[in-house]
Amino acid sequence: MKEKLAIHGGSRAVPEGAIKKWPPISDLDRKMVLAALEGPTHTVGPNYTELEKEFAAWSGVKHALYCNSGTAALHMALVACQVGCGDEVIVPAYTWPSSATCCIHHNAIPVFVDIEWSTMNIDATKIEAAITPRTKAIIAVHLHGLSADLDAIMAVAKKHNLKVIEDCCQAHGLAYRGRKAGTIGHGAAFSCNQNKCLSSGEGGFFVSDDTELFERGKMLWYFGEHRRPESGTAHIAYGMGWMYRSTELDAAFTRAQLMRLDEHLAVLKANAEHLHKCLEGTPNLIRPVIPPGHGHNWYNYTIRFDMEAMGHAKDAAAFRDRLVKAMRAEGVDTGVWQGWPVPEMTAIAAKSAYGRGCPWSCTKSSVNYSLDQFPMAVKHCGWHTGMTMPLRNPNDKKVAELMAAGIRKALDNLDQVEKVA
Ligand SMILES: Cc1ncc(COP(=O)(O)O)c(C=O)c1O
Repeated sequence: MKEKLAIHGGSRAVPEGAIKKWPPISDLDRKMVLAALEGPTHTVGPNYTELEKEFAAWSGVKHALYCNSGTAALHMALVACQVGCGDEVIVPAYTWPSSATCCIHHNAIPVFVDIEWSTMNIDATKIEAAITPRTKAIIAVHLHGLSADLDAIMAVAKKHNLKVIEDCCQAHGLAYRGRKAGTIGHGAAFSCNQNKCLSSGEGGFFVSDDTELFERGKMLWYFGEHRRPESGTAHIAYGMGWMYRSTELDAAFTRAQLMRLDEHLAVLKANAEHLHKCLEGTPNLIRPVIPPGHGHNWYNYTIRFDMEAMGHAKDAAAFRDRLVKAMRAEGVDTGVWQGWPVPEMTAIAAKSAYGRGCPWSCTKSSVNYSLDQFPMAVKHCGWHTGMTMPLRNPNDKKVAELMAAGIRKALDNLDQVEKVA
């Protein structure tokens, strides 16, 4: 339908104030955080230890360690898997940078594998070709909340005696062939930052079923100690450690949010599935795909624009940015989450992470990051946009309909999008 776009002075598809903020704060959050404030300690206290038990039970794993970020959890998981200096780790070419930089934290070398176009997750059929005698682990990222191809990943890992770390930072509540994400690999990392499905400002969990592996990872949590503060630390660095602890206040907030997590996930699923239905048949729009047996928690509803069909294959990112600008002017809260493949990011492309070429030069690594190896990741970067907040509780299906209306309006009026500055 031809309508004047809001960016050119038309009226908005989404009225001002229609999208409610995430996460919803209730009296439970207020009560628990205030009680922690008045409690016996602001570092590791009763909320901290209870939260770890509750998250382990909720996730279906034996052990969970609460920490200050998903990045810290990934780093702990890698070290737990005995990945170290000069070892190689397989990482998808398109993900959040810390799925790769966690390797560099321990002088290990990320080796990138292209993504599969349809799922946006690592292309499991390409992993074997990237394995060398130095390879120790694979980071299986469940990107946007869609499960990676874990059967294939676990099979290749088993064949080559590699560990698998699930990056579940976006994957709370996700199921893969009936099993919860985070329970299938050797260890996993979750994030609780502001945008995540379990949201409490910042935070994360390192989880594992393997007690020995878990204990090794835990050493990083608090300066290389192996005892917890509540059992009396010796103040000895038994190994190389960081300071990855969070606080009792954040633990209380996370506990309160965890109590509502199933409700939040159910609302997100209902809203995302409704949006998915509303967008069916939209011209030049590629909706997300869920292969059989895979789950989706709809952390990020990511769509692609068919740049070839629209005649913009050569200037895809620039035209996508105009489309996103037009949609945002309509009130659609969409954005470009990651606009670059990870191997294109400066610290990695220039192999300059710690300066003087380290860890690549000091480990004599000759890994190649040329982008022509990752055509799907490169293409995806210019074609996509995605949204998180509008589909989260307390937003409802009406908000999903408004999002769909704003997206459709821009795509129905491409002649006007061409004129967006
Ligand atoms: C896929 C993925 N991995 C890792 C992280 C890192 O989590 P955090 O921001 O809590 O360090 C994020 C968070 O943005 C993520 O989306």
